[in-house]
Amino acid sequence: MAMQGTLLDFIIGWLMIPWRILQEAYWLYCPPEAHDEGEHISTPADSANGTIDQRELRHWIHLSQRWWDPEGDFALLRGFNTCRIPMIVKTYRDLIAGEDATMVDGALPLTGARIIDVGCGAGFVAEPLAEYGADVTAVDMVPEIIEVARTHWTDLHGDAKGPEYLCASVETLAQQREGQFDMLLCLEVLDHVGNMPEFLRHCCKFVRPGGCAIFTTFNQTVAAGLLGIIGAEHILRIVPMHTHHLYRFIKPAVVTNILTEEGFRTLKVSGCFPVNPLARRPKWMDIPYTGVTYALVAVKNESSPSVMK
Ligand SMILES: C[S@@+](CC[C@H](N)C(=O)[O-])C[C@H]1O[C@@H](n2cnc3c(N)ncnc32)[C@H](O)[C@@H]1O
Repeated sequence: MAMQGTLLDFIIGWLMIPWRILQEAYWLYCPPEAHDEGEHISTPADSANGTIDQRELRHWIHLSQRWWDPEGDFALLRGFNTCRIPMIVKTYRDLIAGEDATMVDGALPLTGARIIDVGCGAGFVAEPLAEYGADVTAVDMVPEIIEVARTHWTDLHGDAKGPEYLCASVETLAQQREGQFDMLLCLEVLDHVGNMPEFLRHCCKFVRPGGCAIFTTFNQTVAAGLLGIIGAEHILRIVPMHTHHLYRFIKPAVVTNILTEEGFRTLKVSGCFPVNPLARRPKWMDIPYTGVTYALVAVKNESSPSVMK
């Protein structure tokens, strides 16, 4: 009986693939938000400007307790740290701290770095950065996830100073903390927000002139749709179903154009890819191909205004 159930699941799973491809193709031309009439959920991060997408909010609330399960739904995202933590440390050293950072014996690599991690989830990145000595502010729209992040840090580190976890909207926080950070991180978030250009513009305000920003997200290509959605969600089942949508994926040029308007210079766009996605502890690496997921590094011009426009 159980065997029949598994076989049936398998057949239904494969039959869903053509349906999902059609749905994603349709949504590219007719995005679903306009028809989303589900129940409105409030969060402390709610704001009038609406960079929160209700469909996404429901999705992330539903997954909120599963983040730190070592073999659970988020193993692949957590594995991304093998690539992004070294990238963050290198970017900070190259663009902000300079050579001096390496000269103090025994200093943690991010001592003194003021970093904001927007859309931090349960702290996969914020935690190791705080352990490396950074002053981290970590923000997410889902209160349940912020609670999981706080509890995880306390369970591991007790009272030791950790990330400042906040459930807040970028609109409000950008007014309060404008120009206060050396580095902005927005990792795997841009393809989950409502009104991406507005969200990105608010994020830019956090960075002081001369500071820098790192974004990672999916490119809007057929390869990203096939590997990131069909491959990861339907075939390998290593990412929760309906986490990603092709119409939300973003071409690097779109990000670069907005950043330029906000006074940033894009320095580098590189590809990132999991080496062993099915392993218990997946590892990622940098690749030259940016057609699936990419990391974009930008620096804010010294002359950029640090007060609200
Ligand atoms: C794919 S997860 C990435 C988490 C984390 N950055 C990482 O890479 O480990 C996307 C996160 O973005 C958050 N998010 C989505 N829209 C947001 C918004 N408008 N404001 C703040 N956080 C948001 C979600 O709650 C979720 O935790």
